[in-house]
Amino acid sequence: MEKHAWWKESVVYQIYPRSFCDSNGDGIGDLNGIRSKLEYLVRLGVNVIWLSPVYRSPNDDNGYDISDYRAIMDEFGTMADFDALLSEAHAKGLKIVMDLVVNHTSDEHPWFVESRSSKDNPKRDFYIWREGTPGNGSRPDPPTNWGSCFSGSAWEWDPRTRMYYLHFFSKKQPDLNWENPSVRNEIFDMMDWWCRKGVDGFRMDVISMISKPDIFEDSPTHGGLYGDSSVTCNGPRVHQYLQEMNRRVLSKYDLLTVGETAGVTVEEAQKYANAGGTELNMVFQFEHVELDGGAGGKWTRNPLSVRALKENLTKWQNALEGSAWNSLFLCNHDQPRIVSRLGDDSPKSAKCVATMLHFQKGTPYVYQGEELGMTNCPFGPIENYRDIESLNAYRELTESGLREASELLDCIAYKSRDNARTPMQWDDSPNAGFTTGVPWIMTNPNYREINAAAQIDNPDSVFSYYRRLISLRRGSEWKDLIVYGTYALLAPDDPDIYAYVRELHGRRLLIVCNLSGKAREFAPGLSPAPAETRLLISNSGTPLFSPVLRLSPWEADAWEVC
Ligand code: NOJ
Repeated sequence: MEKHAWWKESVVYQIYPRSFCDSNGDGIGDLNGIRSKLEYLVRLGVNVIWLSPVYRSPNDDNGYDISDYRAIMDEFGTMADFDALLSEAHAKGLKIVMDLVVNHTSDEHPWFVESRSSKDNPKRDFYIWREGTPGNGSRPDPPTNWGSCFSGSAWEWDPRTRMYYLHFFSKKQPDLNWENPSVRNEIFDMMDWWCRKGVDGFRMDVISMISKPDIFEDSPTHGGLYGDSSVTCNGPRVHQYLQEMNRRVLSKYDLLTVGETAGVTVEEAQKYANAGGTELNMVFQFEHVELDGGAGGKWTRNPLSVRALKENLTKWQNALEGSAWNSLFLCNHDQPRIVSRLGDDSPKSAKCVATMLHFQKGTPYVYQGEELGMTNCPFGPIENYRDIESLNAYRELTESGLREASELLDCIAYKSRDNARTPMQWDDSPNAGFTTGVPWIMTNPNYREINAAAQIDNPDSVFSYYRRLISLRRGSEWKDLIVYGTYALLAPDDPDIYAYVRELHGRRLLIVCNLSGKAREFAPGLSPAPAETRLLISNSGTPLFSPVLRLSPWEADAWEVC
């Protein structure tokens, strides 16, 4: 019998604070803005908030470059605001999971400022410094050909000590040296400090990248979103470090821990999220959101094939059954909006996609605005983008002549992380009610139609649909079946229909999602055939069950089949 745990029974809501709600009119979301919206989250029915980083940061990568782990970013408020947020959230039954960004710091973190100051500084070995290799120019070439996830080399030349430092992300995000026990001590102390404050867990940024290869040598390929994952991910000591973290910090508290594990395989996930609990509770894998990549890496516009999606998600469902725990997500602050990617921007397709995900086994994550069916944004020219990944890629690929500007811009419009970062659409007042000032990034013009105020009390809205999905999982007679039941895919080769069965103690649920804009017939072919059915939810009124289901475009239905 599978072990029960609160984090398996939770639904997590991710907040990207910069874009959620601005309380002071400076155009940037903040902690007091979040406080003012806690009731909204209670209404939605989630019980955990994952806060993208709120720590002090020069914002080269919107807070994923931290200069002080124990202070709040000025634009977001103060530590007193954070403490108030935490206690108000707890009073409302909401837990708070912090983003933990410890693969790298900001180059403005005092550790790095010291580290770069001289070769014999005590903090020198907190980061990864290497001599260059002989080159033809005025300075040596980088130690290896490794690429940064944000374009260009992963090595930055530092003129003061005439050495290179490693940065798998921007040059303002130097990678920490986890080999150094003092680094681990500092990080574990800091985590302990937040736990003692009462936070409820950690989402660990690119945690699969903390252990670097034993030998630094050129890789055959060095591009891609996360560089060459054989170089950057699942390094030789990553499990040792996480087990140490677990022993020294995590096991002392009752936390939700989720690793952002770029490049993770099923076999690695079974270690990171092992059922014995020696590392983390669960991982984010990314294969399913990379299926629409191509020769141009991330910057392509291939359709997301339903068949490939089913195959991939099913692989993860089956492989982790009983041995580890899945997290379920389609959106986050790094992904374009799923309703524009897998759906057709319509509310009905948003509900269909949500149904497909929320009945699977694992802990679901809802990213701000997903519950409203927020779509990709028509940004227009490159000047309207803010994201370092998109801007660097545009510059590097057009300046090198590798891509033609308008074609690349088209791909950036489709895939840019900024699609997820436009202001949360609260109502139809200027700037979607996000700010009274000038927002730091443009507001999606469709906020007049798509916004929370228009949806909260409308029983047919995407919001109400999410609310129902969440309440089925968290507080219905089907709760155990949805959380702990087994998963079996039906009709793997069907190009449009994603259908599956969940089963626990002889009770079965049938989920059928027509992920296409075509009317379809579908015979689930259940064995044994159901004698009786009960509809749990549908985005298409009250459909009747029959051996051959007639599905309208984007129809999604879930039944108990007895
Ligand atoms: C993954 C985060 O989700 C992303 O937003 C960030 O840019 C990189 N890690 C670097 O911290």
